[in-house]
Amino acid sequence: MLARVVTFAVEGVDARRVWVEADIRLGLPAFTVVGLADKAVREARERVRSAMINSGYEFPLRRITVNLAPAYLRKVGPAFDLPLAVSLLVASGQLEPQALDGCAVVGELSLSGEVRPVRGALAVAEGVRANELRRLVLPRSRAREASLVPDIEVVGVASLQELVATLHGEAARAGLPAEEPAHVDEEVLDLADVRGHNALIPGLEVAAAGGHNLFLQGPPGTGKTMIARRLPSILPPLASREAIEVTRIQSIAGLRGSAGLVTTRPFRAPHHTISAAGLVGGGNPPQPGEATLAHHGVLFLDELSEFARSSLEALRQPLEDGDVTIVRGQQVMAFPTRFMLVAASNPCPCGLGDGRCQCTPVDLARHRRRLSGPLLDRIDVLMRVERPPAEALRRQAAPGSAAVRARVMAARERQQRRLSGQPETCNAQLTSRQIREVGNVSASALRLLGELYDRHTLSARGHTRILRVARTVADLDGSDVVGPEHISVATSLRLDDSPPLAEAA
Ligand SMILES: Nc1ncnc2c1ncn2[C@@H]1O[C@H](COP(=O)(O)OP(=O)(O)OP(=O)(O)O)[C@@H](O)[C@H]1O
Ligand SMILES: [Mg+2]
Repeated sequence: MLARVVTFAVEGVDARRVWVEADIRLGLPAFTVVGLADKAVREARERVRSAMINSGYEFPLRRITVNLAPAYLRKVGPAFDLPLAVSLLVASGQLEPQALDGCAVVGELSLSGEVRPVRGALAVAEGVRANELRRLVLPRSRAREASLVPDIEVVGVASLQELVATLHGEAARAGLPAEEPAHVDEEVLDLADVRGHNALIPGLEVAAAGGHNLFLQGPPGTGKTMIARRLPSILPPLASREAIEVTRIQSIAGLRGSAGLVTTRPFRAPHHTISAAGLVGGGNPPQPGEATLAHHGVLFLDELSEFARSSLEALRQPLEDGDVTIVRGQQVMAFPTRFMLVAASNPCPCGLGDGRCQCTPVDLARHRRRLSGPLLDRIDVLMRVERPPAEALRRQAAPGSAAVRARVMAARERQQRRLSGQPETCNAQLTSRQIREVGNVSASALRLLGELYDRHTLSARGHTRILRVARTVADLDGSDVVGPEHISVATSLRLDDSPPLAEAA
């Protein structure tokens, strides 16, 4: 008898529909799986056999052929165990085929017949909805995540027996698993801990409000890493559409347990030894890199000059386009990479960067080569983190993150109102055409920018970047129009020869 079960394969950050077709006929006992299956899927035969027998079902001792269609799509991982077992149950007459109408099945099986969690439940649930199926049967611990998708019925099961009983209507549906206890934040990092850098706060505020890339440069031990790690405390919360995207990515990368929606912006701080593939994604089959894991959040590159040049070069295109396309063999996959880049570096290899610096010209040239050029051109806000004077370090109390965040959120709301109905969510994502169309830049502001363009060695890209930052400065100011005063603040936050922010603010 022939049976057909719908399941999904995760490809990149999307789920693609796959049919598991099982055919059982007379002949010498054999179990063959065809259809571009990887090793884990071929090994599924052993798990399925044991799981069926140990759950009290009959494993057909006949000639079994399973086909995974479409054949061109690569099937990876153990999530095919459950649909495979279900297809055999149907083909051998142990489960009614009607029970599977409009239904998709994913899950890994243990030898005893328990259903184990799989990655990418949210992506699969979205696939179920997009393919106009009604129901998704998946591991119970992933039911909460899958139920974030509306209009589909989510059936969480803990074992093969429970699946059969539930589909036959003999057992009541188990509800959603209990909410995981909110894990205590490792450490609440607040801007108030940073002393003597109050003059930098307006710049941080601009970067956070518009989602602009930020570069912190200064001698060792002045608080660069400290400031960067406190950025999430002033960023606005994830919008609901963003939260779904972040949850989908983290689930596919296996970073989530049984919790539902992600609520905090991702903050990724990879070590400087990371490879280009680790940063932007790669491998075979392609896996998301840090740039994708930081989607809608912060990618923090501490000690920027220590990163391999090839890794930094690989970041240029994803930074500009907001996604990265990876081609491996016949597979082409796009991963989203809309993150805020935050980088920190010393002014020179020895770190002193002043009269006491002992770096050789060769050291300095190498350091500058690493930092300068196309990557720095993509940085909107550049800050010098100088050694705070002793008095400021002792006395100056910084405003807490809550007050700064309130201003950032107000500015972000203005942006979202302006951009409503468009995929962009903040000023940093605007193209040069959009900024001209919706930016509302006054003629006098444009004139000033033109003068600056002539005077400095500003690239055309830098020109647009200043416009974007100026738009954010105006948003923080509560102003609909970008005026020359906003352009001057934006310029002071960017150009390499800008005065330290203390003077600019
Ligand atoms: N402005 C500051 N206010 C309060 N503490 C500070 C400040 N600057 C530095 N510190 C203290 O010094 C430690 C080191 O700071 P941090 O790691 O941020 O320096 P850094 O600028 O990143 O240095 P490096 O260039 O060596 O990485 C912090 O953990 C903190 O305890
Ligand atoms: Mg540091």
